[in-house]
Amino acid sequence: MAVVEAVNLGMVYPDGTRALKKVSFSVEDGESCAIIGPSGCGKTTLLFIFSGLLRPTEGCALIEGKEIVAPPKKAALILQNYGLFPWKTVIENVALGLQIRGMKAKDAKNTVKPILSKLGLEGFENHYPKQLSGGMQQRVAFARALAIKPKIMLMDEPFSSLDALSREKLQNFLLELWMKERLTMLLVTHSIEEAVFLGRQIVVLSPRPGKVVKIIENPMAGSVEYRNMEEYFEKCREVRKSVGATW
Ligand SMILES: Nc1ncnc2c1ncn2[C@@H]1O[C@H](COP(=O)(O)OP(=O)(O)OP(=O)(O)O)[C@@H](O)[C@H]1O
Ligand SMILES: [Mg+2]
Repeated sequence: MAVVEAVNLGMVYPDGTRALKKVSFSVEDGESCAIIGPSGCGKTTLLFIFSGLLRPTEGCALIEGKEIVAPPKKAALILQNYGLFPWKTVIENVALGLQIRGMKAKDAKNTVKPILSKLGLEGFENHYPKQLSGGMQQRVAFARALAIKPKIMLMDEPFSSLDALSREKLQNFLLELWMKERLTMLLVTHSIEEAVFLGRQIVVLSPRPGKVVKIIENPMAGSVEYRNMEEYFEKCREVRKSVGATW
């Protein structure tokens, strides 16, 4: 069953800016989809629609077959700029989602401790975001998303501000998490390599207004070793070709 689905999705902002036009694709349960497109083509707009923060002006966005009218409970959103609250500590940031869902602060903090240590953040529970490196802040954002035990992960360029090494490490972490938890993932990126490493389906968008140029199947994605395989480089070339024709 399609867990995430866009049907002829269009978005025109109130000032008349058209961000998306007739975008259709679907992601099956436990699958991953990378959305790749140039800056300003409407990728964040698309994720905001799936996270229930924006309503499309045309077509519809569905989660598990139902039109999205409010932020879907099963989905976690990871924003382009981490989206952490600067006035809250690491553990408070991570526990927030559980508290919003009604858990007591103390219980929420105890629940998230193992997640923090899994992400290498123990010892930093009481630090504020500004006291952390970019890579660490990004891991806090992941921890916060994972704390609610999501079935669906919606991610907006979650690795774009990291150095190459931290990026690879977190990509591997996400890949392993995806395989283990059978999450359904929607990942927005403008990196061809990242799209091919993490997206079993790659949706290529045109410059604004974002339209679907091509949907590329990438069935071999799903192992850390893929990154070094000839098939991976071949797929990168294929994506680069269709991107190059339109960007
Ligand atoms: N609130 C808004 N009102 C009017 N126009 C907007 C609004 N938000 C975004 N836009 C416009 O919609 C278009 C798509 O923006 P969006 O942020 O979705 O792009 P993006 O693909 O995420 O870009 P980037 O790769 O730089 O993050 C842009 O032209 C932007 O200027
Ligand atoms: Mg964006």
